[in-house]
Amino acid sequence: MDFSKVIEQRFSVRSYKPDEIEKEKLEQVLEAARLAPTAVNKQPFQFIVIRSKNRQQDLEKIYGKAWFYQAPVVIAACALYDKAWKRRDGMNYAVVDTTIAMDHLILAATNLGLGTCWIGAFDPEAVAKILNLPDHAQVIAFTPLGYPADSAKPKKRAPLSQLVRYEGWE
Ligand SMILES: Cc1cc2nc3c(=O)[nH]c(=O)nc-3n(C[C@H](O)[C@H](O)[C@H](O)COP(=O)(O)O)c2cc1C
Repeated sequence: MDFSKVIEQRFSVRSYKPDEIEKEKLEQVLEAARLAPTAVNKQPFQFIVIRSKNRQQDLEKIYGKAWFYQAPVVIAACALYDKAWKRRDGMNYAVVDTTIAMDHLILAATNLGLGTCWIGAFDPEAVAKILNLPDHAQVIAFTPLGYPADSAKPKKRAPLSQLVRYEGWE
């Protein structure tokens, strides 16, 4: 798909077909995350692939919407704070790097006709227990992954004139 079409066609899919995802397609979206840029090439993340079959109870505790656990696969993007680059003022880039990688994954999924939806409003305590996360790992976002049973709605976005300044703030 043309790159600009990928950007336009990605939308938050909140209804999924039960069809399984082909192994090659799953590998392709994970590969897109692997190739994402990271600060000082630290790659401070792990992706956890959760097959939703027999995991409904767990997934429901994480995020209670049926469309979330009805997708065949759910992916968690985990930031590793101990592995990330730190800027001189102490800012830890784990979240930035993990978010960029997740966006690569999401755009690659769109390109393959797969649906995704960023999920930030999950229960972090349930996640830590269910996924057995170590202390240095934190899930930044989930996405369901599957064939969409939904179609895009027109995007509501502020115009560029409200989002962009040139050369400085004023
Ligand atoms: C960081 C982040 C967290 C989000 N969390 C949720 C969420 O918990 N549940 C949900 O249904 N959508 C969530 N979304 C999706 C947004 O609502 C959606 O991207 C936005 O309304 C624009 O719509 P679009 O993705 O269809 O273009 C999240 C998006 C982002 C970027």
